[in-house]
Amino acid sequence: MTTTKTQATLVLSGTGKTGRRVAQRLSALGHPVRVGSRSGRPPFDWEDRATWAPALDGAGAAYVSYYPDLAAPGAVEATGAFARLAVGSGVSRLVLLAGRGEPEAELAEQAVRDCGAELTIVRAAWFSQNFSEDFLLEPVLAGEVALPAGDTPEPFVDADDIADVAVAALTQDGHAGQLYELTGPRLVTFAEAVGEIAKATGREVRYLPVTLDEYATAAAGQGVPAEVVKLLTYLFSEVLDGRNARVADGVRRALGREPRDFALYARDAGARGVWDVPAANGPDQ
Ligand SMILES: NC(=O)c1ccc[n+]([C@@H]2O[C@H](COP(=O)([O-])OP(=O)(O)OC[C@H]3O[C@@H](n4cnc5c(N)ncnc54)[C@H](OP(=O)(O)O)[C@@H]3O)[C@@H](O)[C@H]2O)c1
Repeated sequence: MTTTKTQATLVLSGTGKTGRRVAQRLSALGHPVRVGSRSGRPPFDWEDRATWAPALDGAGAAYVSYYPDLAAPGAVEATGAFARLAVGSGVSRLVLLAGRGEPEAELAEQAVRDCGAELTIVRAAWFSQNFSEDFLLEPVLAGEVALPAGDTPEPFVDADDIADVAVAALTQDGHAGQLYELTGPRLVTFAEAVGEIAKATGREVRYLPVTLDEYATAAAGQGVPAEVVKLLTYLFSEVLDGRNARVADGVRRALGREPRDFALYARDAGARGVWDVPAANGPDQ
């Protein structure tokens, strides 16, 4: 059974790094899409369960991307409850976005697994787009990316690959019950990633390894909320301890092609001007 083109697909985080790409691809294929986020119509808010049923009304499939992270307090319970409500409301196919090497994310996978829908789980590595569409954009623009990531390599995955896999799973047969571990084609240290970005921009951008404490203190000093600092330091200490320093074959298994390389991502993002720094103001008139 391929999903019907008349029922909407609810795309949670539909304006975010992966959801936006999933929504664009589904629309291009002629599938009705409903963006599930606080700015959607109707709005969807993980923090307000009264918004869930209206967002699900009439939907036949859903892309489930939790915000901010499946390791955040309450995430496991919320994703499980959402999946059960979705199935009760008529959703027959779900794709869950999860992270690699996070015990909490695996609990969330478990909570969704028994909901009764055709389920595909995508366990993704760190997104390349964190450098261009998220919290690493500003440091890149400032010319210095200071992170407690040491020299642990990570197989950064391109959000375009995640979206391609999610859309295949939402619209085609053969992906239900699959767990796809999605990584890029090679291991890349943060120093190498920043080096690729510097090459793509032609500017000097350097990576500075710092300790977790130094990172947390600097983030708090820049006004990053305490719970976000806690989540980031958790991710850097847990997920970047070497446990994920290996590539996986999820993109090839799901799509029959190789994943996009970080260098290609950096070249394309650089060519689009995402890391262009506005020219400094001239001398005062
Ligand atoms: N980033 C990574 O490297 C990475 C790696 C592996 C897994 N993941 C997983 O990917 C998921 C998404 O993370 P992300 O970093 O890619 O974020 P993202 O999708 O780029 O986050 C932004 C999206 O979340 C929506 N949003 C924010 N607050 C919301 C709320 N209270 N209720 C509903 N929607 C809300 C935003 O729309 P509105 O502002 O309109 O609400 C926007 O669509 C997380 O579960 C994370 O664990 C991320």
